[in-house]
Amino acid sequence: MRTAFGLLGMALFLAGCDDMANQDRYRTYDPAPDLPGGRTWQMPVEGTVARGQLESPAPPEITPDLVAHGRDRYAVYCTPCHGADGGGNGHVAGRTMPHPPPFTAAEHAASLEEIVEVIERGVGVMYPMADRIGHADRWAIAAHVMELRNGGGAP
Ligand code: HEC
Repeated sequence: MRTAFGLLGMALFLAGCDDMANQDRYRTYDPAPDLPGGRTWQMPVEGTVARGQLESPAPPEITPDLVAHGRDRYAVYCTPCHGADGGGNGHVAGRTMPHPPPFTAAEHAASLEEIVEVIERGVGVMYPMADRIGHADRWAIAAHVMELRNGGGAP
């Protein structure tokens, strides 16, 4: 009895195994009379933006409030490596990666735009942080970095 059930189970199991690599499917240019153009391939919906091609919104106005907010966000996201004073002596730097150069000697921090780009894309061994820092915060942090670069004076 047990063997019979075992065989039945095995038969049902094997019957369920299709050749998944060779099943019916549409290819990109196959005819499809019911779709516009008569093919499976369709134009992307109007306004579609390719990954990574989204045009950034305009930079926010740099106000004292924004710079203060940037100082706060800098403390969260950047001090571990760059240090509170921007000198490159954060606690993490020197352990998992080399010390960053002090902002006063930075090559890629000549303008707000450049600092925002470093935050978005990373530079050298520093990884990009666009996935965790929103657009306005990037500009706020950049404004604070400029402040550190200029020796603490407001830009
Ligand atoms: C995990 C450590 C780490 C964190 C966190 C980090 N950085 Fe960096 N950063 C580095 C290192 C290391 C470099 C040097 C990269 C290289 O030259 O290979 C660097 C380089 C830079 C530079 C360019 C310096 C130059 O010489 O041109 C800027 C600007 C910068 N970081 C800004 C930031 C800002 C702003 C944040 C916070 C949003 C941040 N970094 C967070 C490690 C870090």
